[in-house]
Amino acid sequence: MAGSRNDLQRAAAEVLAAGGKTVALTGAGISVESGIPAFRGSQGMWEKFDPAEYATIGAFLRNPEKVWEMLSEMMDVLLGAAPNAAHRGLAELERMGLLRSVITQNVDGLHQAAGSRRVIEFHGSPEALVCIACWNRYPSAEKVREGIPPRCGCGAILKPDIVFFGEPIPWGAQEDAEAEARSCSVLLVIGTSAQVAPACEIPRQAKEHGARVIEINPEETPLTRTVTDLHIQGGASEILPCLIQEILSPHSGSQSPSENH
Ligand code: APR
Repeated sequence: MAGSRNDLQRAAAEVLAAGGKTVALTGAGISVESGIPAFRGSQGMWEKFDPAEYATIGAFLRNPEKVWEMLSEMMDVLLGAAPNAAHRGLAELERMGLLRSVITQNVDGLHQAAGSRRVIEFHGSPEALVCIACWNRYPSAEKVREGIPPRCGCGAILKPDIVFFGEPIPWGAQEDAEAEARSCSVLLVIGTSAQVAPACEIPRQAKEHGARVIEINPEETPLTRTVTDLHIQGGASEILPCLIQEILSPHSGSQSPSENH
């Protein structure tokens, strides 16, 4: 891809500033700089916890105590995390009227903590615990304080209301995300390896409906050379503030970079 990073940032800022309907799709990478490890890669969660043993609904049904070893470690990390400049940048874009919504695969609540108002939690939220025997629901914090693994009044071990492998996407989130993908004019894809369906299908859906796809990721992904129009290679917490800076005070006479098509 031609164009320096500055050129790419300027081009992206121009697209965002044009004020079309922009939607963001985020993944674990946006929260890495908040101290939450991503899932894949050498430092990823799945290096430590085999997803087949810890992250499928079958694994939870077979051995919920074991899965709670991973969940309680994950919840401790999430509780100690704060939004970074990338989360704040997306909230700022929304306040500026330049971002319509965030579709996130993350379950860390950091977009909401940063001030984003329209957040579609594609993989659920750990704020509630649900009983898969009697479908009772409980606020997480309270129940977890009672002990790990947390139990329902009926005696069954509770499951956080997040999507395990093998479970469907919450119906409302799937509907809302598809509607956003079909109707947006720009999709900002930030910090996802785009390997997990159906979330990884959102960029292609958006593209097929005419959206331009801007990807922010230090690495290439399966989207980069197929769907992405403009890949800004780098960390999200560095790039989002640069984009906002560029929108607020655009450099005059900047060159347009070449884009993938
Ligand atoms: N800024 C932007 N992107 C980053 C950063 C950063 N600072 N650091 C890492 N990344 C990128 C990585 O290059 C990688 O492409 O973030 C991506 C993280 O990928 P994954 O760990 O696979 O996370 P994600 O795509 O969100 O995973 C999807 O898989 O295991 C399931 O349910 C889990 O929601 C998760 C889903």
